Amino acid sequence: MTEQSFQKIFGAPAEVVVRAPGRVNLIGEHTDYNDGFVLPAAIDRAITFAGRRRSDRTVRVHSLDFQASTEFSLDDLQKDKEHSWSNYLRGVTKFLEEDGHRLTGADVVFGGDVPREAGLSSSAAVEVGTTAFWDRLLGLKLDPVYVVRLSRRAENEFVGVPCGIMDQFISALGRRDHALFLDCRDLSYRHVPLRSDVKILVCNSGVKRALAQSEYEVRLKQCRQAVAQIASTGLAVGSLRDVEPADLETAHDTLSEILLRRARHVVSENARVLEAVRVLEEGDLDRFGELMNASHESLRDDYEVSSKELDVLVETAWKQPGVLGARMTGAGFGGCTVNLVRAEAAEAAAEAIKKGYQEALGLKAEVYICQASDGALAG
Ligand code: GLA
Repeated sequence: MTEQSFQKIFGAPAEVVVRAPGRVNLIGEHTDYNDGFVLPAAIDRAITFAGRRRSDRTVRVHSLDFQASTEFSLDDLQKDKEHSWSNYLRGVTKFLEEDGHRLTGADVVFGGDVPREAGLSSSAAVEVGTTAFWDRLLGLKLDPVYVVRLSRRAENEFVGVPCGIMDQFISALGRRDHALFLDCRDLSYRHVPLRSDVKILVCNSGVKRALAQSEYEVRLKQCRQAVAQIASTGLAVGSLRDVEPADLETAHDTLSEILLRRARHVVSENARVLEAVRVLEEGDLDRFGELMNASHESLRDDYEVSSKELDVLVETAWKQPGVLGARMTGAGFGGCTVNLVRAEAAEAAAEAIKKGYQEALGLKAEVYICQASDGALAG
């Protein structure tokens, strides 16, 4: 599709085609920026880039999803307010140049089926896709973790969104039929097989994540404050990753009620991820599901990043036969829920969740039955 559009728009065949997927996080929410653990999977919805080199220093870009074009010079990489969809590409491109990779101009077409602002990391897919596109077009042979870090840097420093590293990591390094267990402190990771008799169901609440960015920043600060206050009791902690449940007892009187709850979410979530990986590897999907449910409760009550819509989707899912676990996924305040469902029950669960959501709130949810897929750098 993207390739054909490239041919149509630029009148020549594309030299390279690169595909970067969106993601869903099975468990480990709001832990990545606390040096913690996450277990995401890349999904079979992606942004595809098609392009070819130019002989000058101009980059011409067409977005199929926005049906808009823009161009910029590699010698003058600025943020563009008018075509803000292009800032992910501009940021990645700027930082590659700054890091000493001498790029050439290019014509690029990109687009895909990762819903935007739905918590499925369409922006990370665009960043990772852009980095992988330059890598492949110019044979840069970039180190995979460098691709991830540079893509995240574009989001943090160019676009100005203070995300952690999970989304870019999984979009680059996901593997078909596997989740990815990542230690966000040292970036060590391993792929964990997902069984074919369970499906990942993603339910899109249709509610845009209005509060997501401002509240995300508040949570980031609260986590830092909690670490500083816990450290002031004499415990040697550099991030919430270092905090044990017993430490929270010790620091109980030092922390305000709200900081205690924020910290308790992160500390308990890290423990849940470790157990979730273990039980997934042992094939105990019932326990895995219970951990997903507990994660949702913790995000709802202690971290306070859920919403009425997400709670209704999750609580409806919990009642369906064959649903092993359900929780909100991503930053929260709207976006999607993730459900692990026995394969034979997936269709019926999807219908029942849509119906329950419509009846409770008068809203329409979209449900995607997803398959864990390869990241942009796989293969
Ligand atoms: C967003 C961020 C990620 C992560 C999640 C919450 O998706 O981009 O880095 O922090 O929220 O787990």
